[in-house]
Amino acid sequence: MSRKVRARWLLIIMAAGGLLLAACTWPGLEPSPAATLTSQPRPTSPVSGTPAASPFRPELPLYRDPAQPVEVRVADLLSRMTLDEKIGQMALVERSAISDPRDIATFGLGGILSGGGSVPTPNTPSAWADMVDGFQRAALSSRLGIPILYGVDAVHGHNNVVGATIFPHNIGLGATRNPALVQKVAQITAREVYATGIRWTFSPCLCVGRDERWGRTYECFGEDPEVVSMMAGPAVRGYQGPDLSAPNAILATAKHWVADGGTQGGVDRGDAVLSEEELRRVHIPPYVEAIRAGVGSVMASFSSWNGTKMHGNPYLLTTVLKEELGFRGFLVSDWGAIDQLPGDYASDVRTAINAGIDMVMVPYDYQQFLQTLRAEVQAGRIRQERIDDAVSRILIQKFALGLFERPLADRSGIGDIGSPAHREVARQAVRESLVLLKNEGNILPISPNRKNILVAGSNGDDIGSQCGGWTITWQGERGDITPGTTIYQGIKNLAPPGTQVTYARQPVSLSGYDLGIVVIGERPYAEWYGDDADLEISPEDAAAVQQVCDAMPCVVILISGRPMIINTQLAQADALIAAWLPGTEGDGVAEVLFGRYDFTGKLPVSWPRSIDQLPLNVGDAGYDPLFPYGFGLSYSSSSTGP
Ligand code: GLC
Repeated sequence: MSRKVRARWLLIIMAAGGLLLAACTWPGLEPSPAATLTSQPRPTSPVSGTPAASPFRPELPLYRDPAQPVEVRVADLLSRMTLDEKIGQMALVERSAISDPRDIATFGLGGILSGGGSVPTPNTPSAWADMVDGFQRAALSSRLGIPILYGVDAVHGHNNVVGATIFPHNIGLGATRNPALVQKVAQITAREVYATGIRWTFSPCLCVGRDERWGRTYECFGEDPEVVSMMAGPAVRGYQGPDLSAPNAILATAKHWVADGGTQGGVDRGDAVLSEEELRRVHIPPYVEAIRAGVGSVMASFSSWNGTKMHGNPYLLTTVLKEELGFRGFLVSDWGAIDQLPGDYASDVRTAINAGIDMVMVPYDYQQFLQTLRAEVQAGRIRQERIDDAVSRILIQKFALGLFERPLADRSGIGDIGSPAHREVARQAVRESLVLLKNEGNILPISPNRKNILVAGSNGDDIGSQCGGWTITWQGERGDITPGTTIYQGIKNLAPPGTQVTYARQPVSLSGYDLGIVVIGERPYAEWYGDDADLEISPEDAAAVQQVCDAMPCVVILISGRPMIINTQLAQADALIAAWLPGTEGDGVAEVLFGRYDFTGKLPVSWPRSIDQLPLNVGDAGYDPLFPYGFGLSYSSSSTGP
C-alpha cells in the first residue's frame, strides 16, 4: 500500500472516529436507523470495535463503495472535497431559479426543490421524473459526482402533481386518532413521490396549533402535544420506512422547529412568547418522537421565540435539537428565512450557519449565497469544523438514501399514482376524520325513505375547496383542479336506487325535497394568507344554511382547515359535521352519511363559542369551549351535543 494511500486511510479512520464520537446517543433516545451514521448493521472488528470495513478495493474510491460503512464513505468524500464543493452542498435552490443546468455541477449544489406549485409542464408524473432526472444527470457530471437531493412539500399526498391521491390535511388525520392509518398515508405518499424520482418531502409538519386564527392550523395534527406526538413517529416511519435506501423510501422533514404553532394571536411567522417550560411541555415532544423514529431532516421555523428569530437561535437549533435531543440528520432553513434575520446578508448567513443551519433554502440567488458563505469561512467567521459538520450531516442522508448507487428515478410505480387502491386508503382517512358534532333526532344516517335530496352550499361540489391549500398550486384554488370525487358526487353515487340527488350551490326552489345537505366553509389558502381574525361563516354560506334549514330537515357539513364560529348554523341544523379538508375522496363523506360506516372522529382541537375565547386549548383554566378537545358523536352515542 503506497504512502499516499496509507495516509488517506489514516485520515479516514480518524475522521470516521470523529464522526462516530459526534454521534453519541442522548440518554433515553435510542439511536434510530436513518439518523445514525451507519445505516446498516456492521460486523465490528475484533480489535478496535469500530465497524469493520469490507476488503479494501483500491480501484474504487471509498465513498463510491456501498459496502463501506456510511461514516467511512462520508469521511473519504469529505477529505476529497474543496471548500467550494462543501459549501455547494449547503445550498437548496428553487428549480425555477436554475437558468443553466450546468450551474448544478459548476457550483456543486446540494439540493433542488419545487416550492408549492412549482411544477413542470405538462404537470404529469412522467414529466416530473424527466425533470428531476435532468437535474440529477447535471449533478452527476460534477467532479465528484455527488447527487442532488430533490425536495417537495408532499404534505397530504404528492399534492403538486395532477392525478395524485390527495389525503385529508393533518388536522383531519389528527381527528382519526389512528397512527397506523397516518403511517399508511405517509407510506402511500412516499410511493407516489418516489415514482417521480423525488426522494425528500418537507413533511410531517409537527406544529402544535394553539390558536386557530393561524393560517397553518390545518397543517397540525392538533392543538395538544398528545395527538401530534401520537402521529409524529408513524408519519416519519411511513415516509422513510425501515431502510432509507430501499425502494419507495423518501427522506422526511419534521417541521417547523419549533413552536411555529404557538405564536401570539396565531400570526404566521410571528413570535411565540412563552416560557421554556411551556416550550418543552407543549411544542418539543413531537420532535422527540420524530427523532426517535429516525427523521433525517428538520426544517427551522420562520417564527421567533421570545423575540429571537428561530433561524438565528443557537440554543434551540444546536444545544437543544442536536446536542440534547441527539438529532443527527441535517437542519434545513425555510424559504429565504435567513434573509429575515437582523443585519446584512453576510450577517444572515454567518448567524444562521453558526446557529446550526446545515442547508439553506436560498432559494433563488445561490451564487450570492455561495460567495457570501465562502467569504465568511475564509475570514474565519464560520469555522471549517461547522462546514464539515453540516456537509457530513447532508452526505450521511444522501448515502443512507442510496442516492449514489441509484440516483435516477425508479419509475416502476408511476402507474400507481392516484390508483384505486391508494384512493381507497384516502377514503378510509376521510371517513375516520369526520367529527359528528350534532345529530338531532337521528337525522343521520340518511334513511332510505329520503327520496329527494338537495345538496347545496359553496363547497358541496368543489374538489379544490375540499383539498385546501398545498394542492396543485401553493395556495390551492377552487374548481376542478385534479381528479377526484366531490361530496355531492359521492352522495349521488351512493344514494339508493330511486333517490334523486340534486346540487344547487344557492338553491332557488326549495320545495319537493325531503332532506337538505349544506356544505359550507373556507376557500383554499396557505400560510399567512390563511391568518383570520374572526373565523366567521361567509354571508353566502350563512344564507344557504338558513334557507335550506328553514325549508326542510338539514345536515350542515363544514369544509374548513379549523374550527369556525358556527353558533347560528349549529342552532339551525339538525345535524352538523366537521369534515376538515378531506382531499380528493369526497365519497368517503357519503359512505358515513349513508351509514355504511359509523362516525369515529374526535376533535383534535377545542371548538370555541366565540373568537374572544382564543387561544383556547384543553387544560386551560376556565376551559369552556362549544365542543371540547376529544369530542365526537357517533350513531351509537347520544344524538345531542353538550
Ligand atoms: C414555505 C413553508 C414550508 C415549505 C417551504 C418550501 O414557506 O414555510 O413549510 O416547506 O416554504 O415550500
